[in-house]
Amino acid sequence: MKLLYLWIISFTSLSLAVNPHRLVSSRLKQSIIPPRQWRRHSSPPPGSRIELRIGLTQPHIHILENHIQEISDPDHERYGQHLSKNEVENLVAPSNETVHLVHEWLSSHGIEDADMSRTPAKDWVVVNLPISLVEKMLDTNYSVWQHADGHFTIRTTRYSLPEYLLDHIDLVQPTTMFARFSNMRTTMYRATDKLAVGQIQGSSRYELLTPSLDSQPNCNHTVTLQCLQSLYDIAGYKPQAYSRNSIGLTGYLEQYANQEDLKLFLADQNPGASNASFDVKLIDGGLNNQSSQAAGDEANLDVQFALGLSYPTPGTFYSTGGEPPFKPDLGTESDTNEPYAKWLDFILSQDNPPLTISTSYGDHEQTVPEDYARRTCQRFMELGARGVTLTFSSGDGGVGDGNPDPGYQTCITNDGKNETRFLPVFPSSCPYVTSVGGTRGIPEEAVFFSGGGFSNIFTRPWYQSEAVDEFLNKLGENTYSGLFNRSGRAYPDVSAQGLNFRVFIGGKPYLISGTSASSPTFAGIIALLNDARLSVGLPALGFLNPLLYKRGTEALNDITVGNNPGCGTNGFNATQGWDPVTGLGTPNFNKLKEIVLESQMWTMSNRK
Ligand SMILES: *[C@@H]1O[C@H](CO)[C@@H](O)[C@H](O)[C@H]1NC(C)=O
Ligand SMILES: *[C@@H]1O[C@H](CO)[C@@H](O)[C@H](O)[C@H]1NC(C)=O
Ligand SMILES: *[C@@H]1O[C@H](CO)[C@@H](O)[C@H](O)[C@H]1NC(C)=O
Ligand SMILES: *[C@@H]1O[C@H](CO)[C@@H](O)[C@H](O)[C@H]1NC(C)=O
Ligand SMILES: *[C@@H]1O[C@H](CO)[C@@H](O)[C@H](O)[C@H]1NC(C)=O
Ligand SMILES: *[C@@H]1O[C@H](CO)[C@@H](O)[C@H](O)[C@H]1NC(C)=O
Ligand SMILES: *[C@@H]1O[C@H](CO)[C@@H](O)[C@H](O)[C@H]1NC(C)=O
Ligand SMILES: *[C@@H]1O[C@H](CO)[C@@H](O)[C@H](O)[C@H]1NC(C)=O
Repeated sequence: MKLLYLWIISFTSLSLAVNPHRLVSSRLKQSIIPPRQWRRHSSPPPGSRIELRIGLTQPHIHILENHIQEISDPDHERYGQHLSKNEVENLVAPSNETVHLVHEWLSSHGIEDADMSRTPAKDWVVVNLPISLVEKMLDTNYSVWQHADGHFTIRTTRYSLPEYLLDHIDLVQPTTMFARFSNMRTTMYRATDKLAVGQIQGSSRYELLTPSLDSQPNCNHTVTLQCLQSLYDIAGYKPQAYSRNSIGLTGYLEQYANQEDLKLFLADQNPGASNASFDVKLIDGGLNNQSSQAAGDEANLDVQFALGLSYPTPGTFYSTGGEPPFKPDLGTESDTNEPYAKWLDFILSQDNPPLTISTSYGDHEQTVPEDYARRTCQRFMELGARGVTLTFSSGDGGVGDGNPDPGYQTCITNDGKNETRFLPVFPSSCPYVTSVGGTRGIPEEAVFFSGGGFSNIFTRPWYQSEAVDEFLNKLGENTYSGLFNRSGRAYPDVSAQGLNFRVFIGGKPYLISGTSASSPTFAGIIALLNDARLSVGLPALGFLNPLLYKRGTEALNDITVGNNPGCGTNGFNATQGWDPVTGLGTPNFNKLKEIVLESQMWTMSNRK
């Protein structure tokens, strides 16, 4: 009753004030310094339009945060009691007052066709508008910006909102969002037998081990399913609950996963599984070109290793469309959005999303506006609360650009001060995902490119403070002082092999390296852990990190050799315990299996 009463009051005060031309003072909502690589190019062409996403304030979001802490804590009596889709949606929904005020605001600008229910929770409003109108609404001026590599985009560096909406709108994008998720880097190097040693796409400085296409059983030179199964102690496990289990891989950048290549790969490395296939979901104009020339290296790598390890767990490949590169001279429709948001809209609206999902895309955290990063991270949290485990590759630039040469300096801050700092990667810096770094060889050591570091946006989450403090104490106060944020969320959480994976692309075997390989590998193992739990009637793992940090140290192989150079330094060292190169370590499936089964048994017996 009380809520309703308040709502009427504010509705009344709103009605009094709703004259569209009323004197509302507009207040600056956000102002940024444009990222270094971008230069203002021109005014937007007349008639340009933009698809605006308005994130509405969520008054109950902290309740969801409390829930996820409890249900992901193996020592809590609610461990594993995931929330339903409906429960999560209720906790992220805006208030009726917020919905109403935003609707009125749009109406006052003549906008009646806004999509107020793009997400089931109605926490986002999406509307396609002429830029000239958006400029009035947000009291701003958009420009065409050009990146050093020639790409164009339409953005602004500041925007305002009517004062009375500041508490009702978290963010409006695309405004200040310069991150290029529409052109997300895949975190992958590719080497073929034809390439000379050391010629690696995306990296000019490092030499790989001599790529050998012979499958070696021990992962020392070439990584195959067999050697991973033996290295990570999976061999012999027979999935039983696959009819209730599921795993997903995400694809962007017109990366298509090829069914024929999967069959070839399995015939090569897991003949018993050679009839495997996967489901494809197309999002926002994503395509599924099965021509062998269109097979994507990233997509094939992800699908082949994740599905190969977890076979016969059903797999889904999500092909999310990107918009065509924006050309300022062509005007009209612009690159308006980024595909992460579209993928999240889609997956959050599914009743049964896959229980494990791996993603191998990301960008430097500093190119993502803070409010946008927070809101996106929170959407990952929603999936975790519903019982989905998300893995992300930690990036391939070590602590930044992957370059130890102090003379070659690209790790510069975007905050106007042009300081040299390590460059953390988002979404790995989001505390609600499991970030996976890379290792190489036998015995395993950190691989030089393994992304790792400390967020400048997200503070250190509860579950890792002890492990990370221990590392920082060993490191000492002065090492790299000022180069990284000691209070930030630290990543990666775990790691897995990342060098020289034998993958089939367009009918032929190649070797691919990157934390792009590590994430689907770890995800495949999580899917098997879920299988073990589902087989005995336990719920899926969901958000995994609290369990990993509390119990995982006994079940992960601690990696203590190697480092991850970048930003003119040798980066961090892998050490005993957690480190920002290999996290807690690489998986031992059988030991993890005991832990994920025990955790719940303890809880269940305690609950009686
Ligand atoms: C908000 O609106 C919905 C649907 O319009 C209604 O069912 C609900 O009772 C309202 N909540 C409050 C607190 O007024
Ligand atoms: C936008 O540009 C116009 C014309 O140059 C200028 O008058 C106006 O002050 C600018 N508005 C903002 C918010 O910068
Ligand atoms: C794969 O399918 C074919 C034809 O459908 C069947 O003959 C064969 O036994 C299957 N192989 C496996 C390993 O299941
Ligand atoms: C699929 O990809 C191939 C190779 O890139 C291309 O020639 C073909 O036109 C594509 N087909 C469609 C329907 O886009
Ligand atoms: C930072 O770098 C940019 C681009 O190189 C330059 O325009 C700006 O003046 C620099 N700012 C400072 C404080 O050095
Ligand atoms: C892996 O290769 C390294 C050197 O390339 C060698 O020292 C090591 O013994 C090899 N390990 C195995 C298990 O073969
Ligand atoms: C360091 O991280 C915290 C969040 O943990 C953030 O509030 C602060 O602004 C960051 N400092 C810098 C210099 O980025
Ligand atoms: C990494 O280890 C090397 C060799 O022990 C040492 O010289 C270096 O100082 C360490 N670096 C860091 C950042 O801990």
